[in-house]
Amino acid sequence: MSILLDVQNIEVVYDQSILAVKQVSLTVPQGAIVALLGANGAGKSTTLKAISQLVTAENGQILSGDILYQGESILGKNPSDVVKQGLVQVLEGRHIFSNLTVEENLRTGGFLQHPSAATLKQALHRIYHYFPRLADKRDTLAGYTSGGEQQMLAIGRALMTQPTLVLLDEPSMGLAPKISREIFELIAQLRAQEGLSFIVAEQNIALAKHYTDLAYVLENDVVNAFGNTQTLYENGTIQRAYLGQSVA
Ligand SMILES: Nc1ncnc2c1ncn2[C@@H]1O[C@H](COP(=O)(O)OP(=O)(O)O)[C@@H](O)[C@H]1O
Ligand SMILES: [Mg+2]
Repeated sequence: MSILLDVQNIEVVYDQSILAVKQVSLTVPQGAIVALLGANGAGKSTTLKAISQLVTAENGQILSGDILYQGESILGKNPSDVVKQGLVQVLEGRHIFSNLTVEENLRTGGFLQHPSAATLKQALHRIYHYFPRLADKRDTLAGYTSGGEQQMLAIGRALMTQPTLVLLDEPSMGLAPKISREIFELIAQLRAQEGLSFIVAEQNIALAKHYTDLAYVLENDVVNAFGNTQTLYENGTIQRAYLGQSVA
């Protein structure tokens, strides 16, 4: 299986002083769903934003290491160029435009590719196929949709960029268990039907266990364990990380 993303020993600081991530390495095989696990403050969001090159927008800096996407370093690239190469992040907290309709939100995701009207229509059709709830609400202002629908919309908008690798930051946060499962089912479907790959930062270990193949466990800014998610769950490694105990 070929390697889609290869993060090599990165170190990230904010404001030139706050060390947020150190010695984080991880690989994403083509078509994998990879979990990034760890307690609050462990460095999950920072790792994702370092990969998507969005961390510089928060006065963060990747001090050392490298990030290879499809065999090429993307370190220091413009985040929108990274998106054009097929790597997109859905930020934590359902970033949507509340005063635009659901469909207008989706369209904003498609613009980067300068699509023709027909291509854009096709792209919307694809999103509505995977997210029938969004089809029902296409003319509703996004601010009036439910939390689950807003998360689906944020994911749908990212999918409009025609990605190969999608980074999801805590997609289940604040959502009812049933809706969270629905979102992970969609992720599984997108992988099965289109071969998309995912990195999912997640605090819900039951969801991670059920839906992800590989897991990286972050603790105190470093990767403390990695491997098959099921195995790490069965030997207690994942649970211990969330209790804040040492995994070693
Ligand atoms: N924008 C920021 N500026 C300064 N420090 C930050 C910023 N974002 C995160 N941090 C710090 O970096 C560390 C890792 O945070 P984060 O990556 O958000 O972890 P997680 O997503 O696992 O909760 C924490 O100590 C946090 O306080
Ligand atoms: Mg986070």
